[in-house]
Amino acid sequence: MENFVVSARKYRPSDFKSVVGQQHITTTLKNAIKNNHLAQAFLFCGPRGVGKTTCARILAKTINCQNQTADYEACNTCDSCLAFNNNNSFNVHELDAASNNSVDDIRNLVEQVRYPPQQGQYKVYIIDEVHMLSSNAFNAFLKTLEEPPKYAIFILATTEKHKIIPTILSRCQIFDFNRIQIKDIGEHLKYIASEEKIEFEEEALRLIASKADGALRDALSMFDLIVTYSAGNKLTYLDTINNLHILDYDYYFKVVDALLEESIAKTLLIFDEILKKGFDGQNFVTGLSEHFRDLMVCKDPQMISLLEVSESAKERYVAQSKQASLSFILSALNICNYSEIHYKASKNQRLHVELALMKLAKLPQAISLAALAQEDSKKKA
Ligand SMILES: Nc1ncnc2c1ncn2[C@@H]1O[C@H](COP(=O)(O)OP(=O)(O)O)[C@@H](O)[C@H]1O
Ligand SMILES: [Mg+2]
Ligand SMILES: [Zn+2]
Repeated sequence: MENFVVSARKYRPSDFKSVVGQQHITTTLKNAIKNNHLAQAFLFCGPRGVGKTTCARILAKTINCQNQTADYEACNTCDSCLAFNNNNSFNVHELDAASNNSVDDIRNLVEQVRYPPQQGQYKVYIIDEVHMLSSNAFNAFLKTLEEPPKYAIFILATTEKHKIIPTILSRCQIFDFNRIQIKDIGEHLKYIASEEKIEFEEEALRLIASKADGALRDALSMFDLIVTYSAGNKLTYLDTINNLHILDYDYYFKVVDALLEESIAKTLLIFDEILKKGFDGQNFVTGLSEHFRDLMVCKDPQMISLLEVSESAKERYVAQSKQASLSFILSALNICNYSEIHYKASKNQRLHVELALMKLAKLPQAISLAALAQEDSKKKA
């Protein structure tokens, strides 16, 4: 049996153009290579799992490549590139400051910097989680960072930019990495699924993408987990919600249908079913708010691009939004929002949510009464 390699490793981008959702960074880095205008110290900031280490390694590989492509990418075939791809290049040193943060660790590194590369043009030092260095270690590092030898390049990476002291910040060229958009993560998962010849339901991938909260690595880990679970069969929406313990969006459609029917009974029974499945009330209210938000953006063709759901689900949202008036949706958002804010403080949280649902169920009536009253007063006037 082939050894299983997790997708996050198997699909680590090997050149700038395959990095997802960080074009502002990859373009700037390529331009710097093109114009021979490379800084000697970089600071890569951003949330975890968005490509900081990946880009640092690609940069190190590209500037040492013996045969760069016309587009300033690494060739991935020369000796230097191969050494990088096999993780045995002598021109890149990675230090994880989370576990090696003492003065001695930094002194070792500074010591190495004195020796020029034996092959290739640059030695690249990647210091991950650099905010974890002790202040003594920082100080030991400052001088090297200020006057590095020509062949040395430092790439510092951090998830916590605010913890980096100004003396370091001012010596680095700073790149802020983005959270990756749900759409881009979804596309990337689709690409990997097709490479791996895994069948999937579009909704399953979209759900993973949205649950990943911008971190591509997290999305890939969830993807692997569910693929393993479904044992080579189709990756389905149902497997995904079960594995990630997410409430099926079908429930939100059902709740809103019941609300529009003004049926308190139906609404509370659906809520009961949800609680029995082990979901918590607060998550339900948050999910319901998001659902109303999605219905709201369907109301206006200009806003519909803000609807972040899969193509196949889109129609369902549009159809339900046609059933509900804008004033119903806006008031519902208000009620949900109030319920979310006060959830924690409530002594009986179940009743707290039920009360909100009852108010929601009486909304259509309240709105039409208000409209009637308005017409009435117009007539009288
Ligand atoms: N922008 C991205 N494009 C493509 N893959 C990515 C991206 N960001 C993360 N990944 C995937 O996640 C893995 C870990 O990314 P990494 O660069 O180590 O994240 P970070 O250093 O920001 O925490 C990579 O091997 C890759 O598979
Ligand atoms: Mg990293
Ligand atoms: Zn090369």
